[in-house]
Amino acid sequence: MKTKTLFTFLLLISMLFINQFSLAQLPKETETQKTERMKWWTDARFGMFIHWGLYALPARHEWVKNAEKMTNEQYQKYFELFNPDMWDPHEWAKTAKAAGMKYVVLTAKHHEGFCMFDSRFTDYKATNTPFGKDIVKEYVEAFRAEGLKVGFYYSLLDWHHPDYTIDSNHPQRQTSDSAYTRLNKGRDMSKYREYIKNQVRELLTNYGEISIIWFDFSFPGKNGKGHDDWDSENLLKMVRSLQPGIIVDDRLDLDNVAGGWDFTSPEQVQVSKWPEVNGKKVPWETCQTFSGSWGYYRDEYTWKSPAQLLELLIESVSKGGNLLLNVGPTARGVFDSRAQERLKAMGEWMKFNNRSIYGCTEAPAVFTAPPNTLLTYNPVTKRLYIHLLAYPMGSLVLSNMADKVKYVQFLHDASEIRFRAGSDEAKNDLTLSLPVQKPQVEIPVLEVFLK
Ligand code: GLC
Repeated sequence: MKTKTLFTFLLLISMLFINQFSLAQLPKETETQKTERMKWWTDARFGMFIHWGLYALPARHEWVKNAEKMTNEQYQKYFELFNPDMWDPHEWAKTAKAAGMKYVVLTAKHHEGFCMFDSRFTDYKATNTPFGKDIVKEYVEAFRAEGLKVGFYYSLLDWHHPDYTIDSNHPQRQTSDSAYTRLNKGRDMSKYREYIKNQVRELLTNYGEISIIWFDFSFPGKNGKGHDDWDSENLLKMVRSLQPGIIVDDRLDLDNVAGGWDFTSPEQVQVSKWPEVNGKKVPWETCQTFSGSWGYYRDEYTWKSPAQLLELLIESVSKGGNLLLNVGPTARGVFDSRAQERLKAMGEWMKFNNRSIYGCTEAPAVFTAPPNTLLTYNPVTKRLYIHLLAYPMGSLVLSNMADKVKYVQFLHDASEIRFRAGSDEAKNDLTLSLPVQKPQVEIPVLEVFLK
């Protein structure tokens, strides 16, 4: 009897321990440690998103399978034809670098389910197409060689996997509960959860240091999917244990879990101010397309101009954030001419003006931006940058700044900008004398040396 009690006791104790282990917390980290871990990213400010997959062939949005409610069979032709014969990842990497981008995120798998890497857990992968290559492997090597930090986007949604249950965002979405029940019979999300973990483990084990992972996305609610469907918390624990330095987006539906995300990811919007959570400013990055689509879209014509794109970048930095700008390469494996033109224009600007971007952030509140300008600030060098979105007529007034300014110059050519202090009631204002002609710079920048 006694032995039996002891045995039960020991069993209970050990069960408690096993349970404790599986409930292990996400790694704890102080605010300062997190800031330190993310420092390279907050300093970098500008990255490239690449949406590339089978959807490059239909060339009418990466959601085409969903929008046109295609079945796996109907979509199969793109798999059989996938052969981007002109692909040169080194050229992509050089283009990104020349544009001034410091990091890159590639879709290792998008919602269509097609894998750009040689996964052991599926046949639906690039190595089984006519192309036959592990795209992720070559991508990682090429971008690293150019000194960019590399990251992956991994879709939580999967419109191809047989165990992924049909939901409201699936190409085969339904209108009645009974239809969902009927179609989802035999589909087993627990197998799909394992599949995610297995693939993410491959991605974070087989390709060296990975600096960013983008999980996309959660849509909890009726016929939706959230953290329980993905087993987000355990997935994230695995991610952090495999790549302790990695930076993770906020789409795992772990908003209220400590350590459940590193940055917020406002998509295709301009934020009105630095985003806050519980009254605290948080790291953020806006992801944006050149036009309306992430994947290559031949007949999309709403392309933003270089000036608009530069403004997006500057504006993000002026509010303490990053810009992840997307390219949707073609099915031949190249960036189409519209993307190239814009990247080139941004690179020309960045070449002479990147000092107002890298390592910069929102300017301290004592500085007021003059009309039609955006301010950024480098807290290390203590320089203020004034971006002239509309070129002023000969002069620019900096209100209440006369006691703060030592010297002013154009950033692109380091040419002096002379100024004079105001008089009477505007005593502390500074009037800068600008050349009448706008310099040959898309958005001229004034670099202000502070006292
Ligand atoms: C959305 C879309 C997706 C795109 C992503 C980028 O979640 O589903 O197509 O990859 O945004 O942020």
